[in-house]
Amino acid sequence: MRTKPEMMSQLRPAFSELNLSEGFEFDTEIVTNEIKEDCKPLLLSNDQLTTIMKDLNEAINNGLGKRTNPSSIVKCYITYVQDLPNGSERGKFLALDLGGTNFRVLLIELGENNYFHMDSEIFKVPEAIQIGKGTELFDHIAKCLAEFVKKHKVDNSKALPLGFTFSFPLRQVGLTKGYLNSWTKGFNCSGVVNEDVVRLLKEAIKRRKGLNLQVTAVLNDATGTLMSCAYKTIYSKNCFVGLIVGTGCNACYVEKVENSELFDGDKSKPHVIINTEWGAFGDDGKLDSIRTQYDREIDEVSLNPGCQRFEKMTGGMYMGEIVRLIIVDLARQNKLFEGRISEQMKTRGAFGTSFISDIESDKANYRETLKVLNEMGISDPSLVDCANVRYICECVSRRSAHLVSAGLAVLLNKMNEKSVTIGVDGSVYRFHPYFHKLMVEKTKQLTNPDINFDMMLSEDGSGRGAALVAAVAVRDESPKINGHSAV
Ligand code: GLC
Repeated sequence: MRTKPEMMSQLRPAFSELNLSEGFEFDTEIVTNEIKEDCKPLLLSNDQLTTIMKDLNEAINNGLGKRTNPSSIVKCYITYVQDLPNGSERGKFLALDLGGTNFRVLLIELGENNYFHMDSEIFKVPEAIQIGKGTELFDHIAKCLAEFVKKHKVDNSKALPLGFTFSFPLRQVGLTKGYLNSWTKGFNCSGVVNEDVVRLLKEAIKRRKGLNLQVTAVLNDATGTLMSCAYKTIYSKNCFVGLIVGTGCNACYVEKVENSELFDGDKSKPHVIINTEWGAFGDDGKLDSIRTQYDREIDEVSLNPGCQRFEKMTGGMYMGEIVRLIIVDLARQNKLFEGRISEQMKTRGAFGTSFISDIESDKANYRETLKVLNEMGISDPSLVDCANVRYICECVSRRSAHLVSAGLAVLLNKMNEKSVTIGVDGSVYRFHPYFHKLMVEKTKQLTNPDINFDMMLSEDGSGRGAALVAAVAVRDESPKINGHSAV
C-alpha cells in the first residue's frame, strides 16, 4: 500500500535516501488531498470554459461593432494590415521590437527563393525607463537604433523602411499612425497615453540626428507573429491567427472587412487583421466567477489594477507570481514545508514563470523542483512538498493553457475556415514543456469538429513580422508583381 502523503510529509525522507527510478513521471497520487482541494478553483471544466467562450465571443463582437466599440472591453483594434506576404518581398528592412524588458533592433534582408537573413541586437529597457518619462523611452530607443546602425554599418544613404513592433494596446488609424490606449505589462511611461507613438518615435529619431529611416508600419507582436508564420506557410496560405503567450497574452486574426464596422481603409480588399487585445477580457467582471484570491491580489498590487484580467491569469508576467502566492498561503497554513517560509519566497516577483517550466520539465527525482526550491531559500523540502509544489505549478499553467485555448476556439469558430494555421510566439509557449500539447488538446475539444487547425511556433514573430509588414507595405506601394493580395 502507498504510504499516506501526510505520513510521508512527517517522515521527510532526505533526497539521497530516495530511490526513485529514472524515467520518473509525475505521480499526482502523493499530492496531499488538502492541496488538491485548495487548487480545485484553478481547474476549469469545459462547461466553465464554454461560458467564457460565449462571453469572449460577445466581447469581440462588441469590439468590432461601430455602436458597441466605445464601451467594449475587448477593443479589437484594426491593424490596417490587409495583405500577407506572398514571397515577392525584397530588400533590406529595419525592425524595432518593444514590448517587454528587452528592446530589439533587427536588420532583415529578404531575397529570391525565400532568402532570409537577419542581424539583431538586444538592448535592455531599464525599469526606471519603463516607468519614467515617455520622451526618455523614445530617446533610449533612438539611441539603441543609432548604435545598431553604426555597429552593423547599415547604409544610411537612402531611407531604409522600418517596421515598429509596439506591443501595447494601440488604437490604429492607419498603418503608420496609432494612439496608445493604455500601458500594459510592466510599462507606465508618462506622456504617451493617447499620443501617436509613431510621431513620438520619429521625433526621437530626429533629435538623435544622422538616422535616415522611413517608418512604414507600426504593429503589434501578435500581428508580427501572424505575418511571420504566414511567410513560412506561403504555400498553404492558411495562417489566419497570431497568438502570443509570453510576458503578456494576446491574439489577432484575419477578419472580413464587412464584419469590421469601424474599418475605414481599403474596402476593395476583403480582409483585415484585427488585434483583439483580449488580455483586457474580464475587466468588466466577466471572469469574476473563476478568479481566485490570488488573482485578485496580483491585480491589486499591479501597475494597472482592474485592467488586463485575462492576461493576468494567462501571461508569463503573472503565472510565477500566482504560484508563489499560493505556496506562501499554503505554507502559512502549515500545508507545505512544515509551515516554514523563506524570505525569498515572501519576496514579490521572486518566483519567475521560468521556474514553472523548470519544475514541470522534471524528468527524474524532482531534481529541478529541488533546485528551484533551493534557489527560493527552501533547503530541505520533503518529497511530498516537491510533489505538491509541482502540482500547484501544473494547475496554474494548465489554467493558462485552457483559457488561451478557449480564446483560440472562439476565433476559430468565428472565422469558420476549414483549415487554419495558428502562429504562436512568447516565452510561456516556447519554454513550457507541455503548453503546446495542453492547448492543442483543449482547443480541439472546444472547436467545431469540422475545423482543422495546426499550431506553429512562429520563430521571432515580433521582429521578423515587423520587417514583413514593412516589406509588404513597400511591396504594395510599387506596382504589384503578381497582381493579387495574399489574404
Ligand atoms: C499585452 C499587450 C498586447 C501584446 C501582449 C503580448 O497584452 O497589451 O498588445 O500583444 O501583451 O505581448
